[in-house]
Amino acid sequence: MLRPSFDLIIDTDPGADDVVALLLAMASPETLNILAITTVAGNVRLDKTSRNARLAREWGGREDIPVYAGASRPLLRAPVYAPDIHGEEGLPGVTVHEPRQGLAPGSAVGYLIDTLSAAPPHSITVAMLGPQTNLALALIQAPHIALGIKEVVVMGGAHFNGGNITPVAEFNLFADPEAAEVVLSSGVKLTYLPLDLTHTLLTSDARMQQLAALGNQAGRVVVDILNAYVATDMQRYGLPGGPVHDASVIAYLLKPELFAGRQIYLQVDSREGPTYGQTIADWHNALGQPNNVTWIASADAQGFFDLLSTRLARLQ
Ligand code: BDR
Ligand code: CA
Repeated sequence: MLRPSFDLIIDTDPGADDVVALLLAMASPETLNILAITTVAGNVRLDKTSRNARLAREWGGREDIPVYAGASRPLLRAPVYAPDIHGEEGLPGVTVHEPRQGLAPGSAVGYLIDTLSAAPPHSITVAMLGPQTNLALALIQAPHIALGIKEVVVMGGAHFNGGNITPVAEFNLFADPEAAEVVLSSGVKLTYLPLDLTHTLLTSDARMQQLAALGNQAGRVVVDILNAYVATDMQRYGLPGGPVHDASVIAYLLKPELFAGRQIYLQVDSREGPTYGQTIADWHNALGQPNNVTWIASADAQGFFDLLSTRLARLQ
C-alpha cells in the first residue's frame, strides 16, 4: 500500500550510504516531495558533503531539488570525520567531479528556520542522515519551528548492538551529541533507526546482483559505492554483508510496514569520557520516564533490498 505524498527535507553528510538514501528518495516522487537537501559536516568536511549531495542529485536526475550547505562543525565538540569508512572524498568506489549545478544561496540553518516557520503545523518531515547540528542550530535560534515539524526520522544511535565509532557510540551521535540532545528536548515527534537495526539489513552476493542487474547509471553508482563501502564493516564486525544505514530511513518513510519498533525513553550521553555520544535506550522503562522516541528495532531485510532495487530501476 502506498503512503500519500508528504513534504520532506533531507539533512545529510554524504557519505556512501547517504548517497544511496538520496537516490532511493529521489526515485520515489509519488510519496516523497523533497523540498530540499541540507548538508552538514560529518563523514567528511562540509565542502565535500555538499559536493557529494549535488552529485547524488545529478545522478538522480533531480537538479531541481535545492541543496543548502549548513554547519561546518559540530555545536561544541571538535569535528570528527570518517575517511577510513567513506574515503577521503566521502564517496568510495566512484570518481567524483564538480557537479553541473551549484548550491542554493543562503544557509541550511536559515532555510530550515524560514521553511519550518512558514509551514502549516506538523506538516514537514525531516530525515536526519548525519550529525544533527543543522536542526539543533535552527531550533536554538527559533524554537517555534518545532511546530512546523511532523516528524524527525534519525539514522543514529546504538544500544544492544554496541557502537561503531567507540565501543558504545554510533558515529552520527558521537559526531555531535549536544545537537542530538537539543533535538531530543525540543518535543518534536522522533523516530530513531539505530545500528541495532541497520546491522540486520545487510548486503549479500544475491542482493548486490539484484542491484547490478538494473543496468542503469543509478544501479552502477550504487553497486560501485557499496562494493567499496561494505568491505570495511564486514571485516571489522565479522558480518556476512554490509549495512546501508541511511537508506533505511528513506525505506521507513516509504514503507513503514516493513519495520517494527517500540516507544521508549531515550537519553544521549554528552559527558566527556568513554560513554560520550552513547544512546541509552530504556527498553524496559527502568527509569519510569515518559517515552520520547520510537526506536525501530527490526525490519524485513529482503523487503528493504527489493524496495531499493525496484525504486532505483526507475532512475536514469
Ligand atoms: C552513520 O554514520 C555515517 O558514517 C553513515 O553515513 C551513517 O549515517 C552510521 O553510523
Ligand atoms: Ca550519513
